[in-house]
Amino acid sequence: MARDLTVIVLAAGGGTRMKSKTMKVLHPLGGRSMVGHVLTAVREMAPQRVVAVVGNQREQVGAHVREYVPDAVLAVQEVLDGTGGAVRVAMETAGTTDGIVVVLNGDTPLLQGESLRAFAAEHEAAERAVSILTGEVPDPFGYGRILRNEEGDVEAIVEEKDASPIERQVREINSGIIAFDADFLLDALPRLGNDNAKGEFYLTDLVRIARDDGLTVGAHVIGDVAQTEGANDRAQLARLGRILNDRITEHWMREGVTIMDPATTWIDADVRLAPDVTLLPGTQLLGATVVEEDAVVGPDTTLKDCEVGPAARVVRAHGELAVIGGGATVGPFTYLRPGSEVGARGKLGAFVETKNAHLGDGAKVPHLSYVGDAEIGEGTNIGAGTIFANYDGVAKHHTVVGRFARTGANNTFVAPVEIGDGAATAGGTVVRRDVPPGALAVSGGQQRNLEEWALRRREGTPQGDAARAAIEGAGERPADPEVGTDGPGESES
Ligand code: UD1
Ligand code: CA
Repeated sequence: MARDLTVIVLAAGGGTRMKSKTMKVLHPLGGRSMVGHVLTAVREMAPQRVVAVVGNQREQVGAHVREYVPDAVLAVQEVLDGTGGAVRVAMETAGTTDGIVVVLNGDTPLLQGESLRAFAAEHEAAERAVSILTGEVPDPFGYGRILRNEEGDVEAIVEEKDASPIERQVREINSGIIAFDADFLLDALPRLGNDNAKGEFYLTDLVRIARDDGLTVGAHVIGDVAQTEGANDRAQLARLGRILNDRITEHWMREGVTIMDPATTWIDADVRLAPDVTLLPGTQLLGATVVEEDAVVGPDTTLKDCEVGPAARVVRAHGELAVIGGGATVGPFTYLRPGSEVGARGKLGAFVETKNAHLGDGAKVPHLSYVGDAEIGEGTNIGAGTIFANYDGVAKHHTVVGRFARTGANNTFVAPVEIGDGAATAGGTVVRRDVPPGALAVSGGQQRNLEEWALRRREGTPQGDAARAAIEGAGERPADPEVGTDGPGESES
């Protein structure tokens, strides 16, 4: 654009219709707040300055705005006296005196940068005092209606609460996105009154003022009306969330991703997917998740801020801040907590939970295990039902298992402990001391069988009867027991 461009984002209202302790514009859809979506679109206009009007929860909203636009001007609206009041504060704070000013609401998350750029360019080219981005919606309830004269020129915007029954039937609505000539805006803002149903200074009254001044007002009707829709309550938020998801899934399908059921597949705006990725029903890819070529994710999988390598397979899993190597397999029913890393061609199988655990290439934890605070070397296999006991009740400790080790089923590794390269452990081992490379660790005593223990100690119970039947039915009288009569650590009760 040739002229100086100021963009004002209105975000001071609390959003009572949300009935929430969270500010309306901070409510998320597609992994970003509503105002985050708006600011992302605004950035594409490359404006000279962005002004955010904050009021309710100003610290939180202001900090959030600066995550998207670090040099945004924050204008504080002390009294929420309407959108006109908000823009007045913004103009004063920014000191804008020249060029074009585009005002947007913080609650129209589907707005796209491209549409904003085209709108501002058209406003500039037409040299108007005011341009309004409008849309024709099936249900205009709650919006300001666009009133046109017989020639079709925009005369005014009338708010829902101030509209007559006939005016309420107008389906062309004000999106809240309005471009102004800065000179006109500075001149007209002080002339706004608040004699209306809400007792507020309506920004939208500037349209009537411009017309009365004999200035040009234009409207740009957008085809894709969803872009102009605002979410004032949670039902509208969910509706817009669905539209956003349709847009995102459609985009990735066109980029070469197979999505078997887009209706049950949810993809956040910042997720990145490679061609030939396949997503199966019930998959949620959230945050900054990245999935590489030929990987298959789902069904019923949630991954937040995860990396999935090429040709990996992730089935019915839940992961957060985890990295899954190329060709690795995860699931079904696997829980990857933050800091989990599966090496290339590695495996995490059914009912395995990992946290802050690094598995080397080809390392496997196939069944029923907890792996916390651990390093597992390449090619190592962890036996079924292994617990990495990382917590002593006070502090967390680390376990290191070397390369190409083979550990037995039902082991407990009591951290801090180290199992060397090529080492092995027997089934049921409780590893409390380091196992040197190449050693076999066996813990616990030798197995002792106390013969006919059940005949003596479980007399008259189904267990005792079964034992007797087996022993006597076999026709042989076993030798007298050599050892004591007490059970193995069991007491009668
Ligand atoms: C507003 C418009 C309406 C339009 C609709 C589009 C006005 C008077 N009405 O109505 O024509 O169709 O948006 O969605 O402009 N805000 C402030 N300070 C205030 C009041 C509001 O910053 O004193 C902010 C809110 O946080 C919000 C935006 O301005 O981001 C719009 O306010 P909201 O109450 O949602 O206006 P609507 O009733 O939706
Ligand atoms: Ca609104």
